[in-house]
Amino acid sequence: PKKPVKVLVTGAAGQIGYAIVAMIARGLMLGADQPVVLHMLDLPVAADALNGIRMELIDAALPLLRGVVATSDQAEAFKGVNVAVLIGGWPRKDGMERKDLIGKNVAIYKSQASALQQHAAPNCKVLVVANPANTNALVLKQFAPAIPAKNITCLTRLDHNRALGQLAEKLNVHVADVKNAIIWGNHSSTQFPDTSHATALTDRGERPVRELVADEKWLREEFVSTVQQRGAAVIKARKQSSSLSAASAACDHMRDWILGTPKGTWVSMGVYSDGSYGVPEGIFYSFPVTCEKGEWSIVQGLQIDDFARSKMDASVTELKEEKRIANGFVI
Ligand code: NAI
Repeated sequence: PKKPVKVLVTGAAGQIGYAIVAMIARGLMLGADQPVVLHMLDLPVAADALNGIRMELIDAALPLLRGVVATSDQAEAFKGVNVAVLIGGWPRKDGMERKDLIGKNVAIYKSQASALQQHAAPNCKVLVVANPANTNALVLKQFAPAIPAKNITCLTRLDHNRALGQLAEKLNVHVADVKNAIIWGNHSSTQFPDTSHATALTDRGERPVRELVADEKWLREEFVSTVQQRGAAVIKARKQSSSLSAASAACDHMRDWILGTPKGTWVSMGVYSDGSYGVPEGIFYSFPVTCEKGEWSIVQGLQIDDFARSKMDASVTELKEEKRIANGFVI
Protein backbone atom coordinates (compact mmCIF):
# COMPACT_ATOMS: atom_id res chain seq x y z
CA PRO A 1 0.00 0.00 0.00
CA LYS A 2 1.13 3.56 -0.75
CA LYS A 3 2.37 5.83 2.01
CA PRO A 4 -0.02 8.74 2.65
CA VAL A 5 0.87 12.06 1.05
CA LYS A 6 0.45 15.14 3.23
CA VAL A 7 -1.48 17.84 1.42
CA LEU A 8 -1.78 21.37 2.79
CA VAL A 9 -4.74 23.57 1.85
CA THR A 10 -4.55 27.15 3.12
CA GLY A 11 -7.72 29.23 3.24
CA ALA A 12 -9.45 25.89 3.74
CA ALA A 13 -12.52 27.45 5.35
CA GLY A 14 -13.13 29.62 2.27
CA GLN A 15 -15.24 28.93 -0.81
CA ILE A 16 -12.60 27.14 -2.87
CA GLY A 17 -11.20 25.43 0.22
CA TYR A 18 -14.56 23.89 1.07
CA ALA A 19 -14.88 22.49 -2.44
CA ILE A 20 -11.32 21.23 -2.80
CA VAL A 21 -10.80 19.32 0.43
CA ALA A 22 -13.46 16.78 -0.53
CA MET A 23 -12.00 16.46 -4.04
CA ILE A 24 -8.53 15.79 -2.63
CA ALA A 25 -9.84 13.31 -0.09
CA ARG A 26 -11.67 11.45 -2.87
CA GLY A 27 -8.48 11.04 -4.91
CA LEU A 28 -9.16 13.59 -7.64
CA MET A 29 -5.82 15.30 -7.13
CA LEU A 30 -3.36 12.48 -6.49
CA GLY A 31 -5.13 9.41 -7.77
CA ALA A 32 -7.73 6.94 -6.55
CA ASP A 33 -5.08 4.69 -4.95
CA GLN A 34 -3.19 7.42 -3.08
CA PRO A 35 -4.02 7.87 0.62
CA VAL A 36 -3.78 11.44 1.91
CA VAL A 37 -3.48 13.34 5.16
CA LEU A 38 -5.13 16.74 4.87
CA HIS A 39 -3.59 19.76 6.59
CA MET A 40 -6.06 22.65 6.65
CA LEU A 41 -4.96 26.16 7.58
CA ASP A 42 -7.13 29.21 8.06
CA LEU A 43 -7.11 32.34 10.21
CA PRO A 44 -8.08 32.14 13.92
CA VAL A 45 -11.42 33.86 13.11
CA ALA A 46 -12.28 30.85 10.94
CA ALA A 47 -11.25 28.22 13.51
CA ASP A 48 -14.83 27.13 14.24
CA ALA A 49 -15.68 26.86 10.56
CA LEU A 50 -12.52 24.86 9.97
CA ASN A 51 -13.42 22.50 12.78
CA GLY A 52 -16.85 22.08 11.19
CA ILE A 53 -15.20 21.04 7.92
CA ARG A 54 -13.02 18.58 9.85
CA MET A 55 -16.24 17.10 11.30
CA GLU A 56 -17.76 16.82 7.84
CA LEU A 57 -14.67 15.08 6.49
CA ILE A 58 -14.97 12.51 9.29
CA ASP A 59 -18.68 12.15 8.54
CA ALA A 60 -17.98 11.52 4.87
CA ALA A 61 -16.13 8.28 5.84
CA LEU A 62 -13.56 8.70 3.08
CA PRO A 63 -11.39 5.61 2.60
CA LEU A 64 -8.37 7.52 1.25
CA LEU A 65 -8.35 10.06 4.07
CA ARG A 66 -5.82 8.97 6.70
CA GLY A 67 -5.83 12.06 8.90
CA VAL A 68 -6.93 15.67 9.21
CA VAL A 69 -5.05 18.54 10.79
CA ALA A 70 -7.16 21.69 11.19
CA THR A 71 -5.19 24.60 12.54
CA SER A 72 -4.53 28.32 12.49
CA ASP A 73 -0.86 27.76 13.31
CA GLN A 74 1.33 28.12 10.20
CA ALA A 75 4.18 25.98 11.49
CA GLU A 76 1.84 23.11 12.35
CA ALA A 77 0.06 23.44 9.01
CA PHE A 78 3.25 23.33 6.89
CA LYS A 79 4.89 20.56 8.95
CA GLY A 80 6.12 17.82 6.63
CA VAL A 81 3.74 18.57 3.76
CA ASN A 82 4.55 17.12 0.32
CA VAL A 83 1.99 19.20 -1.57
CA ALA A 84 0.87 22.74 -0.70
CA VAL A 85 -2.16 24.40 -2.28
CA LEU A 86 -2.13 28.03 -1.18
CA ILE A 87 -5.63 29.45 -1.49
CA GLY A 88 -5.68 31.69 1.58
CA GLY A 89 -5.18 35.36 0.96
CA TRP A 90 -6.50 38.84 1.39
CA PRO A 91 -9.68 39.16 -0.67
CA ARG A 92 -10.31 42.00 -3.06
CA LYS A 93 -13.03 44.23 -1.66
CA ASP A 94 -15.07 46.89 -3.43
CA GLY A 95 -13.13 50.11 -3.80
CA MET A 96 -9.84 48.48 -2.90
CA GLU A 97 -6.94 49.50 -5.09
CA ARG A 98 -4.80 46.89 -6.76
CA LYS A 99 -1.76 48.30 -5.00
CA ASP A 100 -3.36 47.69 -1.60
CA LEU A 101 -4.40 44.17 -2.57
CA ILE A 102 -0.83 43.39 -3.59
CA GLY A 103 0.54 44.91 -0.38
CA LYS A 104 -1.73 42.87 1.90
CA ASN A 105 -0.82 39.67 0.09
CA VAL A 106 2.91 40.41 0.05
CA ALA A 107 2.81 40.32 3.87
CA ILE A 108 0.93 37.00 3.86
CA TYR A 109 3.12 35.32 1.24
CA LYS A 110 6.32 36.53 2.83
CA SER A 111 5.33 34.87 6.07
CA GLN A 112 4.14 31.68 4.36
CA ALA A 113 7.45 31.49 2.49
CA SER A 114 9.37 31.12 5.71
CA ALA A 115 6.90 28.54 7.06
CA LEU A 116 7.24 26.61 3.79
CA GLN A 117 11.01 26.73 3.86
CA GLN A 118 11.28 25.78 7.52
CA HIS A 119 8.62 23.12 7.86
CA ALA A 120 7.57 21.54 4.56
CA ALA A 121 8.98 18.23 3.33
CA PRO A 122 11.97 18.53 1.00
CA ASN A 123 10.80 18.76 -2.61
CA CYS A 124 7.32 19.96 -1.60
CA LYS A 125 5.33 21.00 -4.67
CA VAL A 126 3.52 24.31 -4.32
CA LEU A 127 0.52 25.71 -6.17
CA VAL A 128 -0.50 29.31 -5.49
CA VAL A 129 -4.20 29.96 -6.18
CA ALA A 130 -4.78 33.16 -4.19
CA ASN A 131 -4.76 36.38 -6.20
CA PRO A 132 -2.76 38.08 -7.50
CA ALA A 133 -1.58 34.50 -8.09
CA ASN A 134 1.51 35.11 -10.25
CA THR A 135 2.84 37.84 -7.99
CA ASN A 136 2.07 35.92 -4.78
CA ALA A 137 4.08 33.03 -6.25
CA LEU A 138 6.94 35.43 -6.96
CA VAL A 139 6.90 36.74 -3.38
CA LEU A 140 6.90 33.15 -2.12
CA LYS A 141 9.91 32.34 -4.30
CA GLN A 142 11.82 35.42 -3.22
CA PHE A 143 11.36 34.66 0.47
CA ALA A 144 11.91 30.92 0.26
CA PRO A 145 15.29 30.82 -1.50
CA ALA A 146 15.93 27.24 -0.32
CA ILE A 147 12.94 25.99 -2.32
CA PRO A 148 13.83 25.28 -5.97
CA ALA A 149 12.01 27.67 -8.31
CA LYS A 150 10.66 24.70 -10.27
CA ASN A 151 8.68 23.61 -7.19
CA ILE A 152 6.61 26.81 -7.11
CA THR A 153 3.77 27.31 -9.58
CA CYS A 154 0.57 29.33 -9.85
CA LEU A 155 -2.87 28.48 -11.16
CA THR A 156 -3.90 29.38 -14.70
CA ARG A 157 -5.46 25.99 -15.32
CA LEU A 158 -8.91 27.40 -14.64
CA ASP A 159 -8.41 29.81 -17.54
CA HIS A 160 -7.08 26.95 -19.65
CA ASN A 161 -10.11 24.80 -18.84
CA ARG A 162 -12.43 27.73 -19.55
CA ALA A 163 -10.81 28.05 -22.98
CA LEU A 164 -11.37 24.34 -23.69
CA GLY A 165 -14.97 24.69 -22.48
CA GLN A 166 -15.68 27.63 -24.80
CA LEU A 167 -14.18 25.83 -27.80
CA ALA A 168 -16.17 22.68 -27.07
CA GLU A 169 -19.38 24.72 -26.92
CA LYS A 170 -18.55 26.53 -30.16
CA LEU A 171 -17.67 23.35 -32.05
CA ASN A 172 -20.35 21.26 -30.41
CA VAL A 173 -17.86 18.57 -29.46
CA HIS A 174 -17.06 16.98 -26.12
CA VAL A 175 -14.60 18.99 -24.03
CA ALA A 176 -12.37 15.93 -23.64
CA ASP A 177 -11.85 15.99 -27.41
CA VAL A 178 -10.40 19.52 -27.41
CA LYS A 179 -6.79 20.08 -26.41
CA ASN A 180 -3.67 22.23 -26.53
CA ALA A 181 -5.20 25.65 -25.99
CA ILE A 182 -2.69 27.95 -24.28
CA ILE A 183 -3.03 30.60 -21.61
CA TRP A 184 -0.09 32.97 -21.83
CA GLY A 185 0.75 35.42 -19.07
CA ASN A 186 -0.95 36.63 -15.95
CA HIS A 187 -4.03 35.17 -14.25
CA SER A 188 -5.83 38.45 -14.93
CA SER A 189 -7.64 40.14 -17.76
CA THR A 190 -4.35 40.66 -19.66
CA GLN A 191 -3.91 36.91 -20.10
CA PHE A 192 -3.86 35.73 -23.69
CA PRO A 193 -5.97 32.65 -24.43
CA ASP A 194 -4.40 31.34 -27.64
CA THR A 195 -6.04 28.82 -29.96
CA SER A 196 -3.37 28.83 -32.68
CA HIS A 197 -2.18 25.34 -31.78
CA ALA A 198 -5.39 23.86 -30.35
CA THR A 199 -6.99 20.82 -31.95
CA ALA A 200 -10.30 19.01 -31.71
CA LEU A 201 -11.11 15.40 -32.45
CA THR A 202 -13.80 15.11 -35.12
CA ASP A 203 -15.07 12.20 -37.19
CA ARG A 204 -12.43 13.27 -39.73
CA GLY A 205 -9.69 12.85 -37.11
CA GLU A 206 -7.81 15.51 -35.15
CA ARG A 207 -8.12 18.94 -36.82
CA PRO A 208 -6.83 22.41 -35.96
CA VAL A 209 -9.43 24.45 -34.08
CA ARG A 210 -8.63 27.39 -36.36
CA GLU A 211 -9.73 25.37 -39.38
CA LEU A 212 -12.86 24.03 -37.67
CA VAL A 213 -14.01 27.41 -36.35
CA ALA A 214 -12.98 29.18 -39.55
CA ASP A 215 -13.68 32.56 -38.00
CA GLU A 216 -10.44 34.30 -37.08
CA LYS A 217 -12.33 37.34 -35.78
CA TRP A 218 -14.26 35.20 -33.26
CA LEU A 219 -11.06 33.47 -32.12
CA ARG A 220 -9.17 36.74 -31.67
CA GLU A 221 -11.91 38.86 -30.17
CA GLU A 222 -15.02 37.23 -28.74
CA PHE A 223 -13.33 34.04 -27.57
CA VAL A 224 -10.42 35.91 -26.00
CA SER A 225 -12.61 38.36 -24.10
CA THR A 226 -15.08 35.65 -22.99
CA VAL A 227 -12.25 33.65 -21.42
CA GLN A 228 -10.60 36.75 -19.94
CA GLN A 229 -13.91 37.95 -18.44
CA ARG A 230 -15.35 34.57 -17.43
CA GLY A 231 -14.47 35.04 -13.75
CA ALA A 232 -16.35 38.33 -13.67
CA ALA A 233 -19.34 36.75 -15.45
CA VAL A 234 -19.52 34.01 -12.82
CA ILE A 235 -19.38 36.58 -10.01
CA LYS A 236 -22.20 38.53 -11.65
CA ALA A 237 -24.37 35.42 -11.94
CA ARG A 238 -23.53 33.73 -8.66
CA LYS A 239 -22.65 36.71 -6.46
CA GLN A 240 -19.63 34.63 -5.48
CA SER A 241 -16.42 34.02 -7.34
CA SER A 242 -15.67 30.75 -9.14
CA SER A 243 -15.22 28.03 -6.55
CA LEU A 244 -15.97 24.54 -7.77
CA SER A 245 -14.28 25.22 -11.13
CA ALA A 246 -11.25 26.73 -9.37
CA ALA A 247 -11.03 23.74 -7.01
CA SER A 248 -11.36 21.33 -9.91
CA ALA A 249 -8.68 23.18 -11.90
CA ALA A 250 -6.29 23.11 -8.93
CA CYS A 251 -6.75 19.31 -8.76
CA ASP A 252 -6.08 19.05 -12.52
CA HIS A 253 -2.94 21.17 -12.17
CA MET A 254 -1.45 19.06 -9.38
CA ARG A 255 -2.52 15.74 -10.88
CA ASP A 256 -0.93 16.49 -14.24
CA TRP A 257 2.21 17.87 -12.61
CA ILE A 258 2.71 14.82 -10.40
CA LEU A 259 1.29 12.02 -12.54
CA GLY A 260 2.17 13.48 -15.96
CA THR A 261 0.35 14.95 -18.95
CA PRO A 262 -1.03 12.54 -21.57
CA LYS A 263 1.20 12.05 -24.61
CA GLY A 264 0.63 14.78 -27.21
CA THR A 265 -1.18 17.03 -24.75
CA TRP A 266 0.00 20.13 -22.98
CA VAL A 267 -1.61 22.22 -20.26
CA SER A 268 -1.10 25.79 -19.01
CA MET A 269 0.78 26.46 -15.77
CA GLY A 270 2.11 29.63 -14.21
CA VAL A 271 5.84 29.04 -13.70
CA TYR A 272 9.00 31.05 -13.11
CA SER A 273 10.08 32.21 -16.55
CA ASP A 274 13.37 30.88 -17.93
CA GLY A 275 13.28 33.34 -20.82
CA SER A 276 11.33 31.07 -23.20
CA TYR A 277 9.38 32.86 -25.94
CA GLY A 278 11.11 36.13 -25.08
CA VAL A 279 9.32 36.35 -21.71
CA PRO A 280 11.88 37.86 -19.34
CA GLU A 281 13.17 35.90 -16.36
CA GLY A 282 12.11 37.14 -12.95
CA ILE A 283 8.33 36.83 -13.27
CA PHE A 284 5.82 34.01 -12.99
CA TYR A 285 4.15 33.64 -16.38
CA SER A 286 1.70 31.09 -17.73
CA PHE A 287 3.18 28.85 -20.45
CA PRO A 288 2.16 25.65 -22.21
CA VAL A 289 3.90 22.80 -20.36
CA THR A 290 4.15 19.04 -20.46
CA CYS A 291 4.86 17.07 -17.31
CA GLU A 292 6.70 13.82 -16.75
CA LYS A 293 7.95 12.14 -13.58
CA GLY A 294 6.88 15.07 -11.44
CA GLU A 295 8.68 17.72 -13.52
CA TRP A 296 7.13 20.30 -15.84
CA SER A 297 8.85 21.63 -18.93
CA ILE A 298 7.82 24.48 -21.19
CA VAL A 299 6.76 23.36 -24.67
CA GLN A 300 9.35 24.80 -27.07
CA GLY A 301 9.32 25.86 -30.69
CA LEU A 302 5.73 27.04 -31.12
CA GLN A 303 5.22 29.65 -33.81
CA ILE A 304 4.24 33.07 -32.40
CA ASP A 305 2.64 35.53 -34.82
CA ASP A 306 2.56 39.33 -34.40
CA PHE A 307 -0.92 39.31 -32.89
CA ALA A 308 0.09 36.76 -30.24
CA ARG A 309 3.36 38.60 -29.59
CA SER A 310 1.63 41.88 -28.74
CA LYS A 311 -0.88 40.13 -26.44
CA MET A 312 1.91 38.19 -24.71
CA ASP A 313 3.96 41.34 -24.20
CA ALA A 314 1.02 43.22 -22.67
CA SER A 315 0.82 40.61 -19.93
CA VAL A 316 4.59 40.82 -19.37
CA THR A 317 4.20 44.58 -18.87
CA GLU A 318 1.44 44.06 -16.30
CA LEU A 319 3.45 41.43 -14.40
CA LYS A 320 6.52 43.66 -14.27
CA GLU A 321 4.33 46.42 -12.85
CA GLU A 322 2.86 44.05 -10.23
CA LYS A 323 6.40 43.02 -9.33
CA ARG A 324 7.45 46.63 -8.96
CA ILE A 325 4.50 47.33 -6.65
CA ALA A 326 5.17 44.15 -4.63
CA ASN A 327 8.84 45.04 -4.23
CA GLY A 328 7.78 48.42 -2.88
CA PHE A 329 6.21 46.62 0.08
CA VAL A 330 9.18 44.36 0.68
CA ILE A 331 11.48 46.11 3.07
P1 NAI B 1 -12.63 33.12 0.38
O1 NAI B 1 -12.56 34.52 0.87
O2 NAI B 1 -13.92 32.39 0.41
O3 NAI B 1 -11.58 32.23 1.18
C1 NAI B 1 -10.30 32.66 1.51
C2 NAI B 1 -9.95 32.07 2.85
O4 NAI B 1 -8.58 32.37 3.14
C3 NAI B 1 -10.78 32.62 4.01
O5 NAI B 1 -11.35 31.54 4.74
C4 NAI B 1 -9.76 33.41 4.83
O6 NAI B 1 -10.04 33.37 6.23
C5 NAI B 1 -8.49 32.65 4.50
N1 NAI B 1 -7.25 33.39 4.76
C6 NAI B 1 -7.01 34.71 4.62
N2 NAI B 1 -5.75 35.01 4.98
C7 NAI B 1 -5.17 33.84 5.34
C8 NAI B 1 -3.90 33.49 5.82
N3 NAI B 1 -2.96 34.43 6.01
N4 NAI B 1 -3.64 32.20 6.10
C9 NAI B 1 -4.59 31.26 5.94
N5 NAI B 1 -5.83 31.52 5.51
C10 NAI B 1 -6.12 32.81 5.20
O7 NAI B 1 -12.03 33.14 -1.10
P2 NAI B 1 -12.13 32.04 -2.25
O8 NAI B 1 -13.30 32.32 -3.10
O9 NAI B 1 -11.96 30.68 -1.66
O10 NAI B 1 -10.84 32.43 -3.10
C11 NAI B 1 -9.55 32.29 -2.54
C12 NAI B 1 -8.52 32.98 -3.40
O11 NAI B 1 -8.41 32.35 -4.66
C13 NAI B 1 -8.79 34.45 -3.70
O12 NAI B 1 -7.59 35.15 -3.59
C14 NAI B 1 -9.28 34.43 -5.12
O13 NAI B 1 -9.06 35.66 -5.76
C15 NAI B 1 -8.41 33.34 -5.69
N6 NAI B 1 -8.89 32.72 -6.93
C16 NAI B 1 -7.93 32.35 -7.84
C17 NAI B 1 -8.28 31.71 -9.00
C18 NAI B 1 -7.23 31.32 -10.00
O14 NAI B 1 -7.60 30.78 -11.04
N7 NAI B 1 -5.95 31.52 -9.77
C19 NAI B 1 -9.68 31.41 -9.31
C20 NAI B 1 -10.61 31.79 -8.27
C21 NAI B 1 -10.20 32.43 -7.13
